[in-house]
Amino acid sequence: QNSLSGQLTDLHEQAANLYHHILKNTQAGQQALQYLHERGMTDEIIDQFGIGFAPEQRLLYPFFEEKKVEYQLLRQTGMFAEDQSGKLHDRFSGRVMFPIKNQNSKVIAFSGRLLSTENTDMPKYLNSPETEIFNKRRTLFNFDVARKSVRQSQRLILFEGFMDVIAATRAGVTCGVASMGTSLTEEQISMMERVTSAVDVCYDGDDAGQNATNRALSLISEQSSKIKLGVVSMPAGIDPDEYVQEYGEDKLAEWLDNAKQTPVAFQMTFLKRNLNVDNEVDQLSYLHSILKVIANVPDSLEQDVYLNQLVQQFNLDKQTLQGQLQEVRRQVK
Ligand code: CTP
Ligand code: MN
Ligand code: MN
Ligand code: MN
Ligand code: MN
Repeated sequence: QNSLSGQLTDLHEQAANLYHHILKNTQAGQQALQYLHERGMTDEIIDQFGIGFAPEQRLLYPFFEEKKVEYQLLRQTGMFAEDQSGKLHDRFSGRVMFPIKNQNSKVIAFSGRLLSTENTDMPKYLNSPETEIFNKRRTLFNFDVARKSVRQSQRLILFEGFMDVIAATRAGVTCGVASMGTSLTEEQISMMERVTSAVDVCYDGDDAGQNATNRALSLISEQSSKIKLGVVSMPAGIDPDEYVQEYGEDKLAEWLDNAKQTPVAFQMTFLKRNLNVDNEVDQLSYLHSILKVIANVPDSLEQDVYLNQLVQQFNLDKQTLQGQLQEVRRQVK
C-alpha cells in the first residue's frame, strides 16, 4: 500500500486508534468517556464505531513525528492546521472523535464534537477538510455497514446526523446512513441507488428537519426513478437520538417500523405548516397545493386514499374534489 491514498488512509487508521485509546484508557479521556456514557453509549457501541477523543494538548503531531512520517504527507491528511510559518498543529482538540469511513470501512476523515457548546462560538461539529481520500459529496456516514444490512432490512434509512445513526444502531437498526452535515448530493443519491431500492428519510422533528426532508424527497425523486421513498417523521422537536434518550431503544426500533409514511402523507402535513386551515383563505390555498401533489401520484388507489382523507378532514364533497383533481391534471400536462 504505497499509493498516496493508501498512505493517507493508513495514517487515519493510526490516528483513529490513538484517539480511541486516549478515550478508553487514559485520564485525558475520562470526561469524554463519561459524556458518551451519559448520552447512553455503551463501551460496545464506542468500540463498534471506533469513537475516540482528541485531547487539548498536542497529540498527533508528536506521535507521527516520532514515527518519522514525512511533513509533506502529514500536510495532506487534513488532520493538521498549518500556521504562517508552515508549522502543523493538531486540527482537532478537546473533541469527541467520530471516524468517518469509506465503503471498505477504512477511516478517511473525522468529525469532532465539542463536549459542551455552552460559552463558545466554536462549531459543535468540526469535520476534516476535503483531501485526496475524503470527498464530502461522496461520503455517507455508516454506508459501509448499512449497505450490507440492506438485504435484511430491505431499506436504507437516511438520518440527519450521525448521532442518530448511532442511536438507531443501538436499537438494532443498522441500515442507517447520514450525509455529512450538508444537503444531500447527487453522488450520495447514486450511492444509495446502487445498494437499495427503498430509502426512508428520517430527519429531525424540528422545522429545519422538516424542510430538509422536503428537499431530500424532491432531490431523490428527481434523480432516481428506482428508489421507492418513504418518510419517518419524528415527534415534534426531537431527533432519533433524543427519542432513544426519552423512550428507550426498543421504542425507536418500533417507531422506525411503524411511523413510516408515504411522501404524499408527509406533504399533507408539511404543506399546512405555515397555514391556519380553519381560515377559508388558507384552507383553499392548502387544498390547491395538496391536489397538485396528489395529481402526480400514479396509483389511483393511493390517490383515492388521500382524497378520502381530505373529504373527511374538511367535510368536502368527494365528486367536487375528484373533478378538481382532473382539472389540476389537465393544467400540469
Ligand atoms: N452539523 C455540523 N456542524 C454543526 C452542526 C451540525 O456539521 N455545527 C452536522 C453534523 O453532521 C450533524 C448534523 O449536521 O450530525 C445534524 O445537526 P444537528 O441535528 O444539530 O446535530 P445532532 O446530530 O443532533 O448532534 P447532537 O445530538 O450531538 O447535538
Ligand atoms: Mn476498543
Ligand atoms: Mn438538526
Ligand atoms: Mn439532531
Ligand atoms: Mn441530536
